[in-house]
Amino acid sequence: MSNQGKMDCGRRRLVVATAAVGGAGAVAALVPFVSSLLPSERAKAAGAPVEVDISKLEPGQMMTVEWRGKPVWIINRTKEMMDTLPKLADLVADPKSDKEQQPAYAKNDTRSIKPEIMVVVGICTHLGCSPSQKFKAGADEGMPGDWLGGFLCPCHGSTFDFAGRVYKSKPAPTNLEVPPHVYLADTRIMIGEDKKGA
Ligand code: FES
Repeated sequence: MSNQGKMDCGRRRLVVATAAVGGAGAVAALVPFVSSLLPSERAKAAGAPVEVDISKLEPGQMMTVEWRGKPVWIINRTKEMMDTLPKLADLVADPKSDKEQQPAYAKNDTRSIKPEIMVVVGICTHLGCSPSQKFKAGADEGMPGDWLGGFLCPCHGSTFDFAGRVYKSKPAPTNLEVPPHVYLADTRIMIGEDKKGA
């Protein structure tokens, strides 16, 4: 991996925070009269659940929504993607998801409610960088020849499979977090809430 890819997470967060503050200031100066919209934004930041329509999410595609200021990935896994999971049991650090990184209803082989739909917080459990998609299997885009597809955190090289399970001997200590969520209908998910109203 190149040094260029090893970005310092703390520095990157500072850059993002500075840009966000600058942007907020600019918006406030231009449209001070829309301040009545702020409470709903605050409510979102405080953790209000987010409803997502996944009806257009094709097999093999991923979409990102924001919940509590974090990116949440929703992935419609193909059969090929799911078939990689049992093959990786010896290579990932917590294959049975014994650490509490998911609600009880996602502590299963696919770490999900529906086998094909993965819902996971897209933040590395090492220092909080955002991993990149490396869906293509094999020695493509700098990945090793036996790579079966998943995610790479470019900051310090942690790798994750299609269930967000971290590979062994990587800096990230645990699997990616699965947020509470519930299906309101076949293609509508509420992120941030489950049947117990968590
Ligand atoms: S933040 Fe260090 S490997 Fe992901």
